Amino acid sequence: MKSSERSVSVWETTHPQAEFPPLRGVAEADVCVVGAGLAGMTTAYLLAREGKKVVVLDDNGVGGGESGQTTAHLASAQDDFYHVLEKVHGEEGAKLIYQSHQAAVDRIGEIATAEGIECDYQHVDGYYFLGPDETPDFLQTELEAARRAGGTVEIVEKLPVPFDSGPGLRFSRQGEFHPLKYLEGLARCIQRDGGRIHTGNHVLEVEGGSTAAARGDGFEVRAGAVVVATNSPINDRLTIHTKQAPYRTYVIGARVPIGAVPHGLYWDTQEHYHYVRLARIPGDLTHEMLVVGGEDHKTGHENDMQVRFDRLEAWTRARFPIEQVTLRWSGQVLEPMDFVAFIGRDPGGQENVYIATGDSGQGMTHSTIAGILISDLVLGRPNPWEKLYDPKRKTISKDSMKEFTVENVDVAVQYTDLLPLGGDVKSAEEIAPGTGAVLQRGLHKVAAYRDENGKLHEQSAICTHLGCVVQWNGLERSWDCPCHGSRFATDGAVLNGPAPYPLKKLEGE
Ligand SMILES: Cc1cc2nc3c(=O)[nH]c(=O)nc-3n(C[C@H](O)[C@H](O)[C@H](O)COP(=O)(O)OP(=O)(O)OC[C@H]3O[C@@H](n4cnc5c(N)ncnc54)[C@H](O)[C@@H]3O)c2cc1C
Ligand code: FES
Repeated sequence: MKSSERSVSVWETTHPQAEFPPLRGVAEADVCVVGAGLAGMTTAYLLAREGKKVVVLDDNGVGGGESGQTTAHLASAQDDFYHVLEKVHGEEGAKLIYQSHQAAVDRIGEIATAEGIECDYQHVDGYYFLGPDETPDFLQTELEAARRAGGTVEIVEKLPVPFDSGPGLRFSRQGEFHPLKYLEGLARCIQRDGGRIHTGNHVLEVEGGSTAAARGDGFEVRAGAVVVATNSPINDRLTIHTKQAPYRTYVIGARVPIGAVPHGLYWDTQEHYHYVRLARIPGDLTHEMLVVGGEDHKTGHENDMQVRFDRLEAWTRARFPIEQVTLRWSGQVLEPMDFVAFIGRDPGGQENVYIATGDSGQGMTHSTIAGILISDLVLGRPNPWEKLYDPKRKTISKDSMKEFTVENVDVAVQYTDLLPLGGDVKSAEEIAPGTGAVLQRGLHKVAAYRDENGKLHEQSAICTHLGCVVQWNGLERSWDCPCHGSRFATDGAVLNGPAPYPLKKLEGE
């Protein structure tokens, strides 16, 4: 099992993660799904419904990745905006984006109803309101593009919120739910339909072929197909990781009186936007939790989370009648260069291997789209979204090329950290208990963490994916790689791929 040294989300405080025993030895299946987040579990559920023998493997718990850290806004409204998506993917592409995300919002509700999964699912309206940098023309431009794509959208003079929001855009038929309750329901259905779920299995290798396989230390699953739903693919070393970039995002939770803010999804239109919704507090008849996220930055580039939480709280207090902030957590999203996830056949050409990644802030719907699309591909059925989400696609537009260049120049810059120019601190003596820092020792970069008892834990600071230098993340107490988003616990264990292996131990550890 991975280290659980991280902040705790509203879902984890209101519903524990379900646990399943690890796999030992060899198992056979029609389909092996690696990753028990929303993408993997939806795929496994849909394939098990179709009579496929499914085995799910995860090195953490069900929903123990980003699906347990999400704020779970279910939206066909797009955080990259339809008028931008139209430029990158054309009018037909924008229509498919709308259709697939709306289908995903609806499908979650349909599954919850059909299976009797009590996950607080409901349709709500979603609203954009202007950030300080945009004028009302922005709303008109987005309204027209969203309508061309097929959305039911209108301009409203004011949002139904307790502050003066100014005008906004209202999207109908968006949704909200409790992701961990939903995942637990899917797990129950997968097992009912003959599927097996194993947690505590860290997959080190995926192999394609007429019999594909996923294996790790002491276990292997041989299957007709392997679906890599590890959020960031662990089977692909390079291709996909040059086309997406990892960002950290922060969330606070504070109690508000029930009724003070109507249930809905709320976003402002700033580049690193704020996102807001409500979540129920079990057993509380007077209050619910207002959940507010934002303050994103590129993974491994900043370690100033207190400042970010303070700014989030100040932003929220200026707008909503919150009481004390009781929850603070963060998570990671992967931003694809052309704003659309990569879902489908392995871009590296591994036969019978499928991937789902590039979730962006729309990862709940992207994960559900992944479930629908990959199960169609595995079953040999046509799917109208296949080309749009194809991980091998080449989308050449001014906007996507700009994103591609900026992010890959940034990765190249990270390699200059390998030069022996010093670390974050001069010596380990400067590292306070409960914190970490990168040290320069001779030619080596050392990731040094001092635990609460004063004991120093040292590993190589070189990421086992493609060799960038990891950075300390004080909130999650993890080592985060600024290049492609791998994350490691203080003992070096992998928390997030694409790195398959832990940080290298140093002598004496
Ligand atoms: C703070 C935050 C807010 C968000 N808000 C929204 C929102 O409002 N709406 C929205 O649509 N999306 C949102 N997202 C994005 C969304 O939550 C994610 O995109 C989605 O949960 C990703 O699901 P997943 O199944 O791809 O990945 P995960 O949930 O991360 O699942 C991947 C699983 O793979 C496992 N794994 C990884 N490597 C291995 C390995 N080598 N061996 C075995 N198992 C492995 C992990 O343990 C994990 O359980 C948000 C994300 C964050 C962090
Ligand atoms: S994640 Fe690619 S080098 Fe670290």
